[in-house]
Amino acid sequence: MSDLQPTREDRFSFGLWTVGWPARDPFGDATRTAPSAVESVHALAEMGAYGVTFHDDDLIPFGSDTTARERHVKEFRAALEETGLVVPMVTTNLFTHPVFKEGGLTANDRGVRRFAMRKVMRNMDLAAELGAQVYVLWGGREGTEVDVAKDLDAALDRYAEAIDTLAQYSIDRGYGLRFALEPKPNEPRGDIFLPTIGHAIAFISKLEHADLVGVNPEVGHEQMANLNYTHGIAQALWNGKLFHIDLNGQHGPKYDQDLVFGHGDLIQAFSTVDLLENGGLTGGPTYDGPRHFDYKPLRTEDMDGVWASAAANMRTYLLLKERAAAFRADPEVQEAMAAAKVDELRVPTVGEGGYEELLADRSAFENFDADTVAQRGAGVTRLDQLALEHLLGAR
Ligand code: GCO
Ligand code: MN
Ligand code: MN
Repeated sequence: MSDLQPTREDRFSFGLWTVGWPARDPFGDATRTAPSAVESVHALAEMGAYGVTFHDDDLIPFGSDTTARERHVKEFRAALEETGLVVPMVTTNLFTHPVFKEGGLTANDRGVRRFAMRKVMRNMDLAAELGAQVYVLWGGREGTEVDVAKDLDAALDRYAEAIDTLAQYSIDRGYGLRFALEPKPNEPRGDIFLPTIGHAIAFISKLEHADLVGVNPEVGHEQMANLNYTHGIAQALWNGKLFHIDLNGQHGPKYDQDLVFGHGDLIQAFSTVDLLENGGLTGGPTYDGPRHFDYKPLRTEDMDGVWASAAANMRTYLLLKERAAAFRADPEVQEAMAAAKVDELRVPTVGEGGYEELLADRSAFENFDADTVAQRGAGVTRLDQLALEHLLGAR
C-alpha cells in the first residue's frame, strides 16, 4: 500500500467553517470552542492540506469595523505566509444574518438583493487579493417554503442577473475568477432554487457569462435528493462545468449530514474518487481542481476528534485513490470489463455513412436476433464484487 500521508500535491483543501464549526445545531448549544482561523490554518497545514477556503463572515465577523476587518485579514495572511497554505476558493455568507431570511440574491425585497450583491462584491475583492481562482455561490436561502409567495420566473431572472453582474465585475476588475454554483435540494429553505447539478447546468446555459460559471457539487446534497453523485459529477465533467467540488458523506435522503468523506455511501465514494482521478472507465475528462472537504465534525467530538476527522477525510480519499488504481490494474478486472463490453460503449453507434449506413445494414435490424441477444448476461455482478473486494482490501 502506498504512503497515505497527504502532501501539498494532493491538493486537499478545507473550509474554515468545517473544523471551525462549534457544533451548535437547531436543537442544542455549541459543544466545543471553535478554533480561530489562524489556529485552523496551522493545524491543517501540519496535517498536509494545501488550501483553506472561507465565507466572508468566517474570517471577519459580520458588522466588523474597518480596523477589526484589517486586523483579521492581516493575521490570516500572516498564517498563510507562515504555513504556505493557499486560498483556492472563497464564498459569501448570504444565509446566517436574519436579513437574508427571505432570500439573498433572489429576495423579494430589492434592498436585500442589493445588499447581498454588495456583500459578495466586497468579498470578491478580498478573494482576488488572496489569489483565489474560484468563487462559490451556495444559495441556501434562495428558495421558498410557500410557492405562492415567490414569482419563480422572476426569481430565476434575478438569480441570472446577479451571477452575470458578478461575473462582469470580475472581468472588469481583472480578478480572473470563475464562479461555481453549489446545488442543494433543501435545508435551510424548504425548497432551494437550483436544487441539483442538472438544474444548475441548465440555468448556467442561459447566462450571458456562461463560460465563467460552473458547478460546485457536494456529495451529500445530491444524495439528499436520492441522486447518484458520481453520475452527477460525470455529467458536470462532460459539460466542462466541474469547477470545484465539496466532498463529504451522507446516508441517503435525510437532513444534510455533512459527514466525513467516505463515512456515508462508501461504494459511491469509491466510484467518485475513481472518476475524479482516472476519468471514465475507458477515457473522458478527469478533475484537476482542489479536493475540497465540506463536512461537519460530529457534534459528539472534542477538538482532538475534530482534527482526527479532518485527517480522516484526507486518508480516506487517499485510500480510495489507491484502491481505485489497484482495481483498474487488476488483470481479472480488465478481463471482466472486456466481457461486460465496457469498452464497446466508446464505439459510435452509427457508422461513417450516417443513418443511411444504418438503414442499409440488414444485420442491424432485419437479421438481428433480439431474442438470442437478450439471453446474454451483462456480467455486471462480477465487476461489482471485484470492486467490493478491492474496496475491502481483499485483493
Ligand atoms: C451546506 C453547504 C455549505 C456551502 C458553503 C459554501 O452543507 O449547507 O454545503 O456548507 O458549501 O456555505 O458556500
Ligand atoms: Mn452540506
Ligand atoms: Mn458545501
